[in-house]
Amino acid sequence: MNDIFENRIKVDNKTRVPVWFMRQAGRYHDHYQNMKKKNTFMELCKTPPLACEVTMGPIRDFDFDAAILFSDLLFPLEQLGMDLIYDPGPKLGFQIDKLEDIKKLNHNPDHNFFNFQAEATTLLREALSDTKSVLGFVGAPFTLYAYAVEGSHAGSLVSSKVGLFDGRYEAFCELLLPNVLHEMKIQAKAGANAVCLFDTAVGELTVNDFKEFAIPKIKYLTSEFKKEFPNTKIIYYSRNTHVKHLREIQDRNIDVLGVDWRHDLAEVINEFSKDYYIQGNFDPCWLHLEWSQVEKKLETFHKELVDANVDFSKWICGLGHGVLQHTPEENVRKTIQYIHKNFLY
Ligand code: CP3
Repeated sequence: MNDIFENRIKVDNKTRVPVWFMRQAGRYHDHYQNMKKKNTFMELCKTPPLACEVTMGPIRDFDFDAAILFSDLLFPLEQLGMDLIYDPGPKLGFQIDKLEDIKKLNHNPDHNFFNFQAEATTLLREALSDTKSVLGFVGAPFTLYAYAVEGSHAGSLVSSKVGLFDGRYEAFCELLLPNVLHEMKIQAKAGANAVCLFDTAVGELTVNDFKEFAIPKIKYLTSEFKKEFPNTKIIYYSRNTHVKHLREIQDRNIDVLGVDWRHDLAEVINEFSKDYYIQGNFDPCWLHLEWSQVEKKLETFHKELVDANVDFSKWICGLGHGVLQHTPEENVRKTIQYIHKNFLY
């Protein structure tokens, strides 16, 4: 069986760099837009055959090496009773503005809540050939906390940062973490080969705050998860972080670090590939260029890694974040073809 980690696809005695994109199933894709005509985003996520079909669209159309479960990272907030709706972006019924707001959260969560993700993952594993990996995902604790406090992860996150010191972060994480751990486990049990932890907001923290507040919660999740699923990989993606943040992670239970386009990928692979696979980090905006320009960008992107003599066996190609809404579909198709043809080692 091929996978994006150890058993990669070989072409003429060379090995192909595997590739998948966050948001590879989404609004830029005709297949998704057609399904959205008949179903709301929430229905697509929560109806397992539909979630499976949305996930499969970009696999069939573009031949990505991994399928990422179609879902959303904010569902644990709904499970906690925060009345999540998508209109079309996410909106919560209330926010955690003060410590007493923690009392409004559901302290006895329904353990069957994430069954829709488990069922969709099972269907996906059945629908996919053995040559493709299945990825589950959850939100990382700080990012989910920032959403619960701010209703988004935009802006300066003042209230979220104050909440690190007034008890809200600890109280919220105490309720959240068992639920997110359960969500990770249910995806792994249903057949996910890896589970991603997306930490989109964490780069707003100083390196010291990242170390003091974010990392211990991540380590709790990864260590508890690996006790039960030692062979399921964990991908930790953070956005807006620096190399110094990455240096502080030091978590042997994390298998892959995903980085955004601000990082010098060659430097990151050379420094961290002894400890982790590295995933990333093409700028998603480049996919909006004319194809001839995208091709040049891809060529340079690859050449810099060759020149820096990186260990290609530890690289998973991807974007620095997710595919953007108005990305031309044709550029996604050609990019995957280009990577499969040229990123060989
Ligand atoms: O293909 C895949 O990668 C799986 C699908 C996926 C979605 N959300 C579907 C989605 C994944 C991996 C996510 C993760 C997610 N969701 C994150 C972390 C990664 C990131 O983007 O930073 C975050 C912060 C969210 C929260 C969220 N959900 C936002 C901010 C939005 C609206 C704006 C936006 O950027 O899309 C959503 C809705 C959402 N989640 C859509 C999709 C396809 C759009 C729904 C629609 O309008 O049709």
